[in-house]
Amino acid sequence: MSSQFLAFPDDFVWGAATSAYQIEGAWDEGGKGESIWDRFAHTPGSILDGSTGDVACDHYHRWSGDVALMKELGLKAYRFSVSWPRILPSGRGKVNQAGLDFYSRLVDGLLEAGIEPFPTLYHWDLPQSLQNEGGWASRSTAEAFAEYADIVSRHLGDRVKHWITHNEPWTVTVMGHQNGSHAPGLRDYPTALKVSHHLLLSHGWAVPVLRRNSPGAEIGIALVLFPLVPGPSNTGVLPVFRKFDGYFNRWFLDPLYGRRYPADVVADHIEAGHLPPDGLTFVEPGDLEAIAAPTDFLGVNYYCPVILRSEVPLESENEPLILLYPGPEYEYTNMGMMVYPDGLRQLLNRVHFEYQPGKIYITENGASYSDGPDRDGRVQDQRRLKFLRDHLASAHRAIECGVPLAGYFVWSLMDNFEWNFGYAQRFGIVWVDYGTQQRIPKDSGLWYKQVIAENGFAMPG
Ligand code: FCB
Repeated sequence: MSSQFLAFPDDFVWGAATSAYQIEGAWDEGGKGESIWDRFAHTPGSILDGSTGDVACDHYHRWSGDVALMKELGLKAYRFSVSWPRILPSGRGKVNQAGLDFYSRLVDGLLEAGIEPFPTLYHWDLPQSLQNEGGWASRSTAEAFAEYADIVSRHLGDRVKHWITHNEPWTVTVMGHQNGSHAPGLRDYPTALKVSHHLLLSHGWAVPVLRRNSPGAEIGIALVLFPLVPGPSNTGVLPVFRKFDGYFNRWFLDPLYGRRYPADVVADHIEAGHLPPDGLTFVEPGDLEAIAAPTDFLGVNYYCPVILRSEVPLESENEPLILLYPGPEYEYTNMGMMVYPDGLRQLLNRVHFEYQPGKIYITENGASYSDGPDRDGRVQDQRRLKFLRDHLASAHRAIECGVPLAGYFVWSLMDNFEWNFGYAQRFGIVWVDYGTQQRIPKDSGLWYKQVIAENGFAMPG
């Protein structure tokens, strides 16, 4: 069998990603306040396997071993998130020094190991006390976020050179406030739209704060984006394409890149009664300019495409989810996501040509497969290895087309608490035994280590 070696650019950033609530545990230790995910997971019926992130991967206590593991894998960068209620237990006001110290030690440990820290400021664990005041539906939460960004960047800004403000505002909007499967568990479309605006606004307000406190650092936001792919039939899908591209992608990309909210989507929401007849009443003068603050990179999280099916009724409340899980004719991960590597190339090209971010990082990409240790303790996760290889090959094609792709972060460094699915879904390139907290690099992790060492890989031809 012939094979082709796919070489990546010399300074390509090979990384892995996690988030605070999914790995840290120590939910009420070290002065940390309660987050909306603590509250949500502690509410019976919210999490499929009844679990919580109380202990998770115990990373709060094991971070130093985890950094050693990253070094062993040869990672060049690590994307983690800062837990807002660890820094500000009540969301604003009194700072918890122990929380700042934790992340400060982590950043130092990473730098000592030659690993570039890529902190994300908001990966969904809002302080519960801010939720009690209305959460992201309230404009004051965006103000509190700018304050929080100021505190974190004043302490870490001398060492951190890459900041990500938010992770996936789409998910917070839709899962958290429209269909209620994530914290805070609301099901209210008008609120969800307001939330999306305040998330973007808080990003826009944080950018100049980060620039001031962390001179020379690169700043971006991580969006989950979806390529839209025609299903078995192309007939009649054009209006569906416009609509879902608007909901999933343009609603966030357009305002971030100075194009305001897409007028067609605003009109849809007015027609559906999600917005009043006069439209975006929560947008105040100056907001759109703030949201469009220039950034240095766009973070793209890619998992699966949206398959367009004209037969799905446009007005169905659950339509996005129906579209995400399109039927038996494709290959799926354990979480039911369709495997579609070419979607990554399509997405990167589209974002590059249409919005022209100066740089793009794939801030998340990965797959849930449950393969565990065999009798010899080896984790042979061939499907994940193939998933990562095929997606990296797709990313490589995008680079060849001129896309300024600067790095790739696999989701995830290790198995962890997968939100409303609990521990049943495993995304790690490292296996975690939750009983003993032992970590075992899976075959995919060992393969990734080799990819990093060789700055590329041979694609079986
Ligand atoms: C993304 C989230 C990440 C993880 C993956 C599987 O939407 O950003 O925390 O749960 O999905």
